[in-house]
Amino acid sequence: MRVLGIETSCDETGVALFDSQRGLLADALYSQVAMHADFGGVVPELASRDHTRRLLPLIDEVLGEAGLGRRDLDGIAYTAGPGLVGALMVGAATAHGMARALGIPVLGVHHMEGHLLAPMLEDEAPDFPFVALLVSGGHTQLVEVLGLGRYRLLGESVDDAAGEAFDKAAKMLGLDYPGGPHIARLAERGDPKRLRFPRPMTDRPGLDFSFSGLKTHTLTAIRQLEATGALDDQARADVARAFEEAVVDTLVIKCRRALDASGQTRLVVAGGVSANRRLRERLEHECAKRGARAYYPRGRFCTDNGAMIAYAGAQRLLAGERDAASMLAVPRWPL
Ligand code: KG4
Ligand code: ZN
Repeated sequence: MRVLGIETSCDETGVALFDSQRGLLADALYSQVAMHADFGGVVPELASRDHTRRLLPLIDEVLGEAGLGRRDLDGIAYTAGPGLVGALMVGAATAHGMARALGIPVLGVHHMEGHLLAPMLEDEAPDFPFVALLVSGGHTQLVEVLGLGRYRLLGESVDDAAGEAFDKAAKMLGLDYPGGPHIARLAERGDPKRLRFPRPMTDRPGLDFSFSGLKTHTLTAIRQLEATGALDDQARADVARAFEEAVVDTLVIKCRRALDASGQTRLVVAGGVSANRRLRERLEHECAKRGARAYYPRGRFCTDNGAMIAYAGAQRLLAGERDAASMLAVPRWPL
């Protein structure tokens, strides 16, 4: 089955072609990051308009790359949510329109399920069951994955997502959006011993997260350094380091607990923050210590992309699922 995947939930237009026999045939991405950078975050209306401009050319691009035409498609999958409603509707309407014209099935999939299954596109894919840490700009969740569609939420953030915290801390340091990669780069020059930030919600049992207090702590630390005239380049790097270390340490502690509580020996880490090098190093170490194994998507499939949607959609379409006649855009949708 050849499935076209469409991702338009936020600020990346992602399109890919997945063949259930041959694997991933092609994928293409257009990032709107530069367009939103001036505003310090994603502007929903601009995002929707840009998806409208980019989506059809990207679909032609992936079909061309795979040497296929629209008539060669057996199904279409799109991100139905969660995300920005206008942005989601561009993908949903395009998918439904094309599927109707071609007479093929169409299915709206959950964005986080896409992230969750993204490591399945790698040569060394994990088998079910596993524990997944989903860390993106909108979500921080620990999920026990027993099989396709069999997800048990173990814990999640009660306020900000980890990626959102990275983005906000970056803004405080005058860095561009999205802030995760900028903080990570700056942190490499930081002194890990100069500042120590709290590891929220690690002093009590449980698998939930909270990152909003860490954000306030970061702002206070920056203001104190500023007030004493000490906020130079080195101090900014030290703040970035202390912040990254606190988020990473918190995520590692909760992953350890989730593996203990579930008895699983495979850990999948996905979503934008899974691109973080320090997080990967620490999780590798943690897994090696306990005879477990960590799995990640390749770099460009950590952040939003069409390949993960094509893959997740193909699995569900193969299982016989289809959308009814009306398209779906579900801005808030639990996994
Ligand atoms: O999954 P994603 O592309 O979009 C959402 O579904 O939210 O995740 C984007 C998030 C942003 O908050 C970004 O700052 C963060 O992932 N991110 C990182 C890194 N690369 C991206 N955070 C920390 N370190 C990174 N290297
Ligand atoms: Zn995402």
